[in-house]
Amino acid sequence: MKFFIDTANLNQIKEANELGILDGVTTNPSLMAKEGIKGYDAILNHYKAICEIVEGDISAEVLATDYDGIIAEGKVLAALHHNIVVKVPMIKDGIKAIKWFTDNGIKTNCTLVFSAGQAILAAKAGSTYLSPFIGRVDDSGWDGMLLIRQIANIFTAQGYKTQILAASIRNANHIIQCAEAGAHVITSPLEPILGLLKHPLTDIGLAKFMEDAGKM
Ligand code: G3P
Repeated sequence: MKFFIDTANLNQIKEANELGILDGVTTNPSLMAKEGIKGYDAILNHYKAICEIVEGDISAEVLATDYDGIIAEGKVLAALHHNIVVKVPMIKDGIKAIKWFTDNGIKTNCTLVFSAGQAILAAKAGSTYLSPFIGRVDDSGWDGMLLIRQIANIFTAQGYKTQILAASIRNANHIIQCAEAGAHVITSPLEPILGLLKHPLTDIGLAKFMEDAGKM
């Protein structure tokens, strides 16, 4: 399972990259706005800065919601760097645009996926990745992990090549459950990734080893 970091914060991207286990980055308009990035040039420059830090797929989301606008924006984003993946919302024009990008050799990430039906459409359009938002599914009273399992079973049965990129990760346990459920990729904020490091018995054991090391 690949690890992407879900942030536009350059320091956090660097910290995760230095762990040596990072395979890519995902961003969205909310994450970019959180970093105070304003204006078209600043947005494009920020994507370039991310591409310089991480050698892996970097999702950059289009802001247009009509077919022509999505295609035009996607072309500009894809031309920024060979690692850019054009992130497209799960809407009718988005699916049409994903098919166009697929036919023209541009990688895509279909975002805002909340059902298996949407996942099937994204796979049929040839999307490189699709992003089910598991935390938001949980928030709405459904089971995000059940959705990942259902999509994984369908993709195995049908031989779809689209990679399941589990998004809206809220804690370390989500990451573990995604690995078990058959997600190809998780994208997570830094904290849940660092949360995987933690176990109280590790801390207790290390403290004892250090104490005994002093007696050697
Ligand atoms: O990648 C999608 C993610 O950014 C959404 O996360 O926590 O806002 O549901 P969240």
